[in-house]
Amino acid sequence: MSVVAGKKLPRTKLPPDARPDTLAVREGLPASQWGENSEALFVSSSFVHPDAATAAARFANEEEAFIYSRFSNPTVTMMERRLAALEGSEACIGTASGMGAITMLVLGLLKAGDHVVCSHSVFGSTIRLFGDFAKFGVQTSFVSQTDVAQWRAAVRPETKLLFAETPTNPLTEVCDIAALAKIAHAAGALLVVDNCFCSPALQRPIALGADIVMHSGTKYLDGQGRVIAGALCCTQQLIDEKFMPVQRGAGITLSPFNAWVVLKGLETLALRMREQSARALSLARWLEQHPAVERVYHPGLPSHPQHELAMRQQGGVGGPVASFVVRGRDAAQARANAFAVIDATRVCSITANLGDTKTAITHPASTTHGRLSEAQRQAAGIGQGAIRIAVGLEDLDDLKADLARGLDAIR
Ligand SMILES: Cc1ncc(COP(=O)(O)O)c(C=O)c1O
Repeated sequence: MSVVAGKKLPRTKLPPDARPDTLAVREGLPASQWGENSEALFVSSSFVHPDAATAAARFANEEEAFIYSRFSNPTVTMMERRLAALEGSEACIGTASGMGAITMLVLGLLKAGDHVVCSHSVFGSTIRLFGDFAKFGVQTSFVSQTDVAQWRAAVRPETKLLFAETPTNPLTEVCDIAALAKIAHAAGALLVVDNCFCSPALQRPIALGADIVMHSGTKYLDGQGRVIAGALCCTQQLIDEKFMPVQRGAGITLSPFNAWVVLKGLETLALRMREQSARALSLARWLEQHPAVERVYHPGLPSHPQHELAMRQQGGVGGPVASFVVRGRDAAQARANAFAVIDATRVCSITANLGDTKTAITHPASTTHGRLSEAQRQAAGIGQGAIRIAVGLEDLDDLKADLARGLDAIR
């Protein structure tokens, strides 16, 4: 976070070479004077100063301390430190949501006349939000997720940001983070990577050259579908100079309770990601064999167009999300068939939020990407027959039976 979470506050007693599994459970702040073993939830709007002179020093940023929870809170700091440790970034700032993190990014880094290059396959609301910033003079060019030459060609002298999400929602297209970082840096711009789908358990964009990692903590970081949360992971300097002033003024604040849930979610992140990804791959292989399925998208499948890149970039793991396209002679029938498969499920949740231990099934063209124009949807390759499945921790055979019920009925 902040001035506050920065270098001067006390750190947990961990060896400097502690590994990710240890950091996921232990990084944060030292326990309070009561010695709690599970991290405390500090539900307090403000913090008390011992005397007026100390209050003055703290308000003048001469002394680090917690002041007011719009921009500094111990539970939020613990979450920020733990996530930064996992992403391998110097620092992190929590935000109210993933979309709030993108809003902070734009408010903190861009001004009228600046330009962004973004994949046209990113999350639908991200495309909408970058579109909305055009009214403040920030223009965005949308390019192919996978064609590096298109990213390079779209860069202009006023380009300040390249924004990527990998793998994408819902078709799991993978972009080359290291290649995009080179393009960004050659242009004097920053590369931001939305790391929702992999999380730092599988993919660490900063090690590949990205400057900022953006998160919807709502997804795998929480991991059980409980809270809305977001974060930006980057250097302390970017936070102090660009993002903390936005947080103080605009108040895109992560609540202590939501931060606490994410903090505890991070403790099981690696286990969940490995297990849910293994189930997703197994389900994707099974779907590939089903006669009612036209195509399956999962980075772990050798048939995935960026399979090798994904394996390199994601530690050999495809991730917990797969999408598939059901057959249909035209768009209307493909949509009807997709709806029938979804409606026949009894185990899966018909919900758009991914990242849960409960498997989520959704029809992207009418939900997550329903607000896009037909042209934008086609550019992203999202047809009416596509179904996204974010695989949870239910028994794999129960999940197969759940999908087979609807798929077997397609003629
Ligand atoms: C890839 C991706 N990025 C960002 C977001 C936005 O996150 P939030 O819902 O926490 O605002 C989502 C939400 O679905 C997402 O899937």
